[in-house]
Amino acid sequence: MSKTKYIISGGHPLYGEVNISGAKNAAVAIIPAALLINGICRIENIPQISDVTLSLKTLQTLGAEIRTINRSTVEIDCTGVQNAKVNYDLARKFRASYYLIGAMLGRFGLAEVPLPGGCDFGGRPMDQHIKGFVAMGAEADVQNGFVLAQAKNGRLQGAQIYLDIVSVGATINILLAATLADGLTIIENAAKEPHIVDLANFLNSMGADIRGAGTDVIKIRGVEHLAGGCYSIIPDQIEAGTYMAAVASAGGRVRINNIIPKHLDCITAKLVEMGVTVEEGDDSVTITRTGPLTRANVKTMPYPGFPTDMQPQIAVALCFAQGTSVLTEGVWDNRYRYVDELRRLGAQIQVDGKIAIIEGVDRLTGAPVQACDLRAGAAMVIAGLAAHGVTEVNQVYHIERGYEDLVGKLSRIGADIQILESPEETEVSQVG
Ligand code: EPZ
Repeated sequence: MSKTKYIISGGHPLYGEVNISGAKNAAVAIIPAALLINGICRIENIPQISDVTLSLKTLQTLGAEIRTINRSTVEIDCTGVQNAKVNYDLARKFRASYYLIGAMLGRFGLAEVPLPGGCDFGGRPMDQHIKGFVAMGAEADVQNGFVLAQAKNGRLQGAQIYLDIVSVGATINILLAATLADGLTIIENAAKEPHIVDLANFLNSMGADIRGAGTDVIKIRGVEHLAGGCYSIIPDQIEAGTYMAAVASAGGRVRINNIIPKHLDCITAKLVEMGVTVEEGDDSVTITRTGPLTRANVKTMPYPGFPTDMQPQIAVALCFAQGTSVLTEGVWDNRYRYVDELRRLGAQIQVDGKIAIIEGVDRLTGAPVQACDLRAGAAMVIAGLAAHGVTEVNQVYHIERGYEDLVGKLSRIGADIQILESPEETEVSQVG
């Protein structure tokens, strides 16, 4: 396990500009979707993060040809992919490997994919994914750590599926399986995240027939095959929100470029409520925080609600807000493992189940802390930027799965943050 850490000397405001990369959760859904395409697809604005590296590597082990065109563009050719068991060690390192089930089922009518990894939020079931596959005529079982799924008569059939819970992963997996199925599939109570719309737009640009993505009813009419093409991934609204929370916490004025402001509406509204100034451009927002922050209540919900993937980051900003704030996690059973680390910096937070009561403090002071998972790690960096003194963030391999060049981007807006390399190999571990 890598011992690389970040050393942050905090307590001063941030000034300058930062450019947002492509969306991690769109990229890790679009890459396996290439399996459905009979030809070459060029994907642009792909983020340089470990989740993407793992996704591409996993496709390669199945026989896909991957050509790197430049830092943010790859070409994927899955024409020669044979149906095979997906590599166990690779797949269990990240959550999105389970999208290969829907893609392999859709292409071959058969899938043998290891159960995925994933940040530990107190259980991450897949029952809704399996419900969708079974409704489309597959038999699905878990054996020896693998999900085995097979279409009864060789090809999935369109079906009407009502999700019991709004699930991003299940919506994406069923959408992938339905794209080449025989007939019409309707997903009701579907998730509406921007990256689901991005996946549907990608597949439609290759010849699919998907309507309603971004609403809670998605209709997929199966087609015979998808041709190749070119597609650019949307910007990452969680990366953008993370920088917004950093400015809210440390103070300063930063312009955040290459974003879709609409995707940030809920984050912007909450920060404005807390006293932050947000100026919106066509593809940028400028965040200014010079005065005190005001307390607020936050409840994380499926899109377009306040995103759960911004929960640890907003918690740090609330630590500096005058008064008592109430933070409620509405998606995951336990996404507060990072609170004990924040307490090392002087945070005053009480957690009771899904609710965190946060008392604003005048300052946090630097200390060694650990990144427990991807977004919690980002929150530790934000806390270190705002805390007085030196903060050491350990286990940064979690962070480097979802944030491209975090240290470089922060340094360019005035942060004093250094990477302390370690001799060990960087091992990729479970991710969100
Ligand atoms: C995706 O996870 C994201 N990961 C997560 O982001 C994000 O937190 C989550 O969506 C919610 O937005 C990726 O896109 C790779 P869900 P996913 O299925 O798909 C329950 C990050 O930081 N559920 O929407 O696993 C589940 O327990 C990561 O980038 C079932 O009960 O989340 C949860 O309570 C962390 N049965 C709720 O639904 C199922 O079959 C939402 O989960 C599936 C889910």
